[in-house]
Amino acid sequence: MELKKIQDVSDLENKKILLRVDFNVAVKNDEVLESYKINAARDTLKYLLNKDAKVALVSHLGRPDGKKDPAFSLEQIAKSVGKILGEKVIYFNDCIGKKVTVMLENLRYGEVLLLENIRFYPEEEQNDPAFALNMAKNFDLYVNDAFSVCHRDQASVTGVAKLLPSYAGFWLQKEIENLDKIKIDPLHPAVAIIGGAKIETKLPVINILEKNYDFVLVGGKIAAEAQEQKIKFSSKVVLAEDFAKDGLDIGPKAVEKYKKIISHAKTIIWNGPMGKFEEKPYDFGTLEILRAVIESPAYTLVGGGESVQVLEENNAMDKISFVSTGGGAMLEYLSGNKLPGIEVLYDK
Ligand code: 3PG
Repeated sequence: MELKKIQDVSDLENKKILLRVDFNVAVKNDEVLESYKINAARDTLKYLLNKDAKVALVSHLGRPDGKKDPAFSLEQIAKSVGKILGEKVIYFNDCIGKKVTVMLENLRYGEVLLLENIRFYPEEEQNDPAFALNMAKNFDLYVNDAFSVCHRDQASVTGVAKLLPSYAGFWLQKEIENLDKIKIDPLHPAVAIIGGAKIETKLPVINILEKNYDFVLVGGKIAAEAQEQKIKFSSKVVLAEDFAKDGLDIGPKAVEKYKKIISHAKTIIWNGPMGKFEEKPYDFGTLEILRAVIESPAYTLVGGGESVQVLEENNAMDKISFVSTGGGAMLEYLSGNKLPGIEVLYDK
């Protein structure tokens, strides 16, 4: 079984391509507050434009519940997307229908079409076959570069991929390569740091990691939740032993213990903050762990919206070996689950 890759397509000239990206980013006053996910689409987009393909970008933004809600419109990020990617981005106020074909035909050299939020249609999340067909009709090829949405079995992720020749973009390939590297055969000692809230969402990944990793350090709210629920782990799982006074951060003993373990690691993966990092002084644990991670010579991989935010706010993005765009998708991938958006791109 081979992953179908965009570089394997020989003739892309004038081909109409639907490029699934994940531009689900924080926005304020039409300004994009985090550019990492948008930048992730750069290599694939440039490659396609250099090959004279006609490209339409399709994404979701937030969870508008199948309604056309201007607060979730991609129009508000169109300008920023153009600036970030250095391309001429033409926004169009729909994502299906004949007009998309006309817009694509009229695109000039160097221009790229940005379609409206695909989740304005309830059929997207329902993965409605007629809707997927409607979307597919306007295109010759489908490319997925949105790793972070590959755990969703939705029309723009799997539905349309089954109807068109479909390929993985460069970013998606990179995510798979880096995650496979640490999932299957990490260099030892291998240390996973898992934080955040909602133990039930993190438990599957902790259980898998404790099989292949030497240490799984559990901080954040989930450490307290695991203790309250008396969840049993193997001795490789180290729950934070103390917390800040009001329980909103891990305590100094846990920080010291974690830092010592991290300093010997050859592989480190990190998902989820150690406390309420957005509020001082509860950022202490998270920042101390961040320092230990970036000072380590180990291969480091960080993922998850809040963890990436911590990196961005502390100018640490380029101090990490690989930063995954995936939150839920990364956890599912590392838990050994098959992601429908990736499975559909395998040549069977
Ligand atoms: C994410 O932000 O993790 C992805 O864009 C997926 O978004 P979703 O959880 O709303 O499907």
